[in-house]
Amino acid sequence: MVMAQHLFRAFEVSERVQDAKPVFAGRVVQKRIADLPAGDVLIRLAFSSLNYKDALSASGNRGVTRSYPHVPGIDAAGTLVHCADARFKVGDAVIVTGHDLGMNTAGGFAEYIRVPADWVVPLPDGMTLQQSMALGTAGLTAALCVDKLLHNGLTPAQGDVLVTGATGGVGSIAVALLGKLGFAVTACTGKPRETDYLHAIGARHVISREEVMQGSAKPLLTPRWAGAIDVAGGELLGAILRSLSEGGSVACCGLVSAAEFPITTYPFILRGVNLLGVDSVRIDHGKRREIWRKLAAQWQVPHLEIMGKVISFKELESELEAILEGRGKGRRILDVCA
Ligand SMILES: NC(=O)c1ccc[n+]([C@@H]2O[C@H](COP(=O)([O-])OP(=O)(O)OC[C@H]3O[C@@H](n4cnc5c(N)ncnc54)[C@H](OP(=O)(O)O)[C@@H]3O)[C@@H](O)[C@H]2O)c1
Repeated sequence: MVMAQHLFRAFEVSERVQDAKPVFAGRVVQKRIADLPAGDVLIRLAFSSLNYKDALSASGNRGVTRSYPHVPGIDAAGTLVHCADARFKVGDAVIVTGHDLGMNTAGGFAEYIRVPADWVVPLPDGMTLQQSMALGTAGLTAALCVDKLLHNGLTPAQGDVLVTGATGGVGSIAVALLGKLGFAVTACTGKPRETDYLHAIGARHVISREEVMQGSAKPLLTPRWAGAIDVAGGELLGAILRSLSEGGSVACCGLVSAAEFPITTYPFILRGVNLLGVDSVRIDHGKRREIWRKLAAQWQVPHLEIMGKVISFKELESELEAILEGRGKGRRILDVCA
């Protein structure tokens, strides 16, 4: 039994005013179990992981987190220490991603979280807690993108599949998973120095963002991609839609470049292309569990050891900065016990 006064470590982001402007900074503080929000389930965390949204929350983005001080961390994996829900029992190994975790609910950059039982997914057989956070929201999202593309009929025989933001979290896992499923993956990156990394995780070709956008003022471009997974939005997404082959699909899940994108109706009405939206935050619980089970079995993502690096609280702030500046590479797993 963990007592309400029990102290634990958490990475808390606070706001202060400097030169009449708000400044946000994080530090490791001691919190009490009683400080956690109400919930059916108390979880002693083993690992969390870093995502683009965490970098936004830690830097004061009000679209992600309304008020500070706040503990970010949209991903968490650990063991139940208290449970008021018949679906789980103390000692169960579980994963929590998405919902409101780390946004306006104290998140996974801590030794404990307390959440509603509806947010909890049992750790699937064949997966460790560390592996679940090597995947995290990035892995779930990449797998949801692949799932949507397959449901829309994409097969390896149709041709090359493009992945943008390929050295990032979602991008790296998308490259590796598509490669495992037999697709010829073209990785689009702003980091040409990471070409060897991208080949090592499963990319057949590596190209620059500029190459994807070449001639992109035209309403239709030469058909190049049977499918695509896009984390960027903006000009890149517009160019991808214009270069999809007849009936091709792009799974759109991010906005690291921009939320808006320039497009006409021509690719849709002359080539029948599909724009597929992917949301890992509010997907149906059954779908969430199905995808996690797949990731532990037939969709086990290869090369996680190349893309993942385990970090401690000490490195958290600099790693979040790297993500915000687009310097992130692969996945960062937070060992909350280190
Ligand atoms: N829909 C959902 O449920 C969902 C879930 C997870 C993430 N997301 C979104 O997906 C995006 C990626 O998340 P993540 O966790 O993978 O982030 P990440 O690890 O920081 O990776 C983002 C990558 O995007 C590329 N990039 C950065 N700036 C760019 C720009 N201006 N134009 C084009 N590419 C740029 C970089 O890769 P290269 O240098 O290799 O190009 C960067 O490493 C974010 O927008 C995030 O909010 C959405």
